[in-house]
Formats: sequence, structure tokens, C-alpha cells
Amino acid sequence: MKIFLDTADTELIQKHFATGLVDGVTTNPTLIKKSGRDPEEVYQELIDLGLPDISMEVVGTGEEMVAEGRRLAKKFGQNATIKVPCTRGGLAACRILASESIKVNVTLIFSAAQAILAAKAGAAYVSPFVGRVDDNSFDGVSLVAQITGIFREHVARTQVLAASVRDVSSVSKCFGVGSDIVTMPPTVFEKMYNHILTEKGLDLFQQDWDSVNNSTKE
Ligand code: G3P
Repeated sequence: MKIFLDTADTELIQKHFATGLVDGVTTNPTLIKKSGRDPEEVYQELIDLGLPDISMEVVGTGEEMVAEGRRLAKKFGQNATIKVPCTRGGLAACRILASESIKVNVTLIFSAAQAILAAKAGAAYVSPFVGRVDDNSFDGVSLVAQITGIFREHVARTQVLAASVRDVSSVSKCFGVGSDIVTMPPTVFEKMYNHILTEKGLDLFQQDWDSVNNSTKE
């Protein structure tokens, strides 16, 4: 049950990684653009922080993705997971990279059929996009459930990494249907701690504790 942060904001990653509850990071071109930084500077900073698993997205033709994937894997070693899209070119690149023992995360998965192809191509992870499926009036968590069910049935080695997760209840639901990893924005990770009844309960415990202490001092 692994939690990844879906961001390229190294300050926030550092803060949350220090909790010991975060297992990795996923990035994509949009998140890198948002950070305003050079992608490889971001990856290096995360490796220096000790992040063991960082998804680094590659783009272009199949050949270009293979070349870039090899280069990144050589530069960043075992910490690098190469992220490719679920296209013909992406899956061809996945097969080649996986055969060279490079970890691949196949992203932009919107159907169980795509996840099956990615698993056959040797992907370490498949990333179904829960929120974007929901945006299109389908059920993202059901897609995750379908994929985990198929992988379990066939004892696939590929892990399911639920992505495009935008709220706390989707995190629990994805883990509930067997997702191995859920990646989420730091805002969602922060909210996982919170529950109104925890706060209320704590207030009451604190008040009672204060009155116990006061009465024993009297
Ligand atoms: O991990 C993929 C994620 O970054 C996409 O999220 O919210 O843009 O659909 P979103």
C-alpha cells in the first residue's frame, strides 16, 4: 500500500517525505511546467532527498522514448521509473526498456484493455486516470477495480498505480479495490490526516486532561 506524490514541487515533496509516509513521486510534463524548473534538476533534487521511486515522463516517437528512457535510467539509476503513454509507440518502447530491466510506468490508461496490453509489454506500473474517467461520466474507481481484478486473476507482476486522484475518498476507494499504489497531489495527502471527529475528540480529551491535572493539584 504505497503512497506517491503527484507533483514536481520539491519543497512540498521534502516536507511530506519527511513524514516517512511517502514512497515515491510521479511527475508529468504539465507538473514539470508548473514547477517552472528544469526536469532533470528536479529529479536530481528528489534523488538527493532519498526518494526511491520517481516517474519521469518521456515523449516523442517509440525510438525517441527508448533513447530518452535509456539515458534517464543510466543517469538516475534504480530511482528512475520511465513513464510512457499507452500508445503503440509507448508500448513498443515499454517492451524494449522492460527487457533491459528498466522500470516502466505506462500512463494515460483509460480502459482495462489498455492495462492488459501494458502488462504484456512488461510495465512495472499501469496508471489508470481515475479523476479524468470520472470527468467523462464513467467510474474511475470501477476501472481500477477491473484492472486489479484481472491482474490478480492472472497473477500479473505489473502493479496498479491509481493516478489523477483528486480527493481523499478516492484514495481509500482505490486502495479498497486493490490498487498497489495511489499517487495524489500534496493537497490530498494533507487532507488524509484530517477528520472533524478526531479534532472534536481531541479537544474533549484535552479539556478533561486539563481538569484532571487541575483537580490533582488542588
Ligand atoms: O498522475 C496523473 C495526473 O497528474 C493527472 O491528474 O488531475 O490532471 O487529471 P489530473
